[in-house]
Amino acid sequence: MAKKTIDQTEVQGKTVLMRVDFNVPLNDQGEITDDRRVRMALPSIESVIKRGGKVILMSHLGRPSGGEGDKKYSLKPTATRLGELLGSPVHFATDTVGADATAKAAELKDGEVLVLENLRFNAGEKKGDAEFAGKLAAMADIYCNDAFGTCHRKDASMVAVPEAMAGKPRVVGHLVAKEIQYLSDAISKPGRPFVAILGGAKVSDKINVINNLLGICDSILIGGAMAYTFSLAQGGKVGGSLVEKDKVELAKELLAKADGKLHLPVDTHCGDDFGNIAGCNKKVVPAGEIPDDMEGLDIGPETSKLYADIIKNAKTIVWNGPMGVFEKPPMDAGTKAVAQAVADSDAVSIIGGGDSAAAVDQLGFADQVSHVSTGGGASLAMLEGQAFAAVDLLDEA
Ligand code: 3PG
Ligand code: MG
Repeated sequence: MAKKTIDQTEVQGKTVLMRVDFNVPLNDQGEITDDRRVRMALPSIESVIKRGGKVILMSHLGRPSGGEGDKKYSLKPTATRLGELLGSPVHFATDTVGADATAKAAELKDGEVLVLENLRFNAGEKKGDAEFAGKLAAMADIYCNDAFGTCHRKDASMVAVPEAMAGKPRVVGHLVAKEIQYLSDAISKPGRPFVAILGGAKVSDKINVINNLLGICDSILIGGAMAYTFSLAQGGKVGGSLVEKDKVELAKELLAKADGKLHLPVDTHCGDDFGNIAGCNKKVVPAGEIPDDMEGLDIGPETSKLYADIIKNAKTIVWNGPMGVFEKPPMDAGTKAVAQAVADSDAVSIIGGGDSAAAVDQLGFADQVSHVSTGGGASLAMLEGQAFAAVDLLDEA
């Protein structure tokens, strides 16, 4: 079901309270190491300021615990970066609902942008506190959710704030509209064959996704360390690979109900020193035959070929999680081969957030896929078939 968008909303002279996901990675110097989430929010922000509206942006960053170390979670760097991207200064409030935010919100002029300090510096955010939400809600005429990466959360800014703004327009931004279009609509009416590619370290993160997709997909290709837990379940030797021993029974159950849809690697690229992948001893072995002194670090070349063949004929592709340690060559080969196959196919291709989005970006394939999700946990939750309260309560188109 389509939601009303910010573009369909009259904003001239109005204040839009926009929930964005500026939860960006920062280095030890407090510099943003990947500004994709800030860049992705630009269309919604520009839609408002170009039409003479005011924008108050709110977001969380990290998981502050209330201690001294929390300073590093300030949203200030994102306000600076946003100002650079917009080519005009962006105001920043050093609190969220306190004196500074209230004063700066009141002074905001048409076409201007204010970024509030990290929502999670206030305990009310995670608790969904109504009083905290009420103060945020009182600042604006319109609520806009463009924080796809956080849509699976029930934090105050996601649910209690739009609840408190009932009667005022409550709409989605460009990013959330596009994410819903791909992750929900494309998956509910997929072109076939529908192929899912699932990697990453843990089976436990992906159980619900596998369960849900087994009922929808034609094939599921497994890679990443998750494959070694499945290998154990089949009686394979996994050496020192990362495995979840307590998930072996579960892996057996998933294999039993997969009805041939679940494809596992046939070979594995392993090494004997994770700390020195470039310099250590490496070899390709058949899956389930990893030597005791080695660990699996990537899918092998035979698996890459098999997976590429399946991907080639797909009409819908969903990919979440890398095939190996893609940050460390040569263990990026499997992820690269899969990325190349996805890019070459003419399927609708959807890359789930987090590591797989970073991999596709780093390897230079981001422009050759249909959609790269900005949400890690949120895109997984959507692939699990979960409903999102934060989206459901917004106005219909
Ligand atoms: C994310 O990066 O996954 C989102 O910003 C949500 O953050 P959270 O997992 O801390 O709620
Ligand atoms: Mg997360």
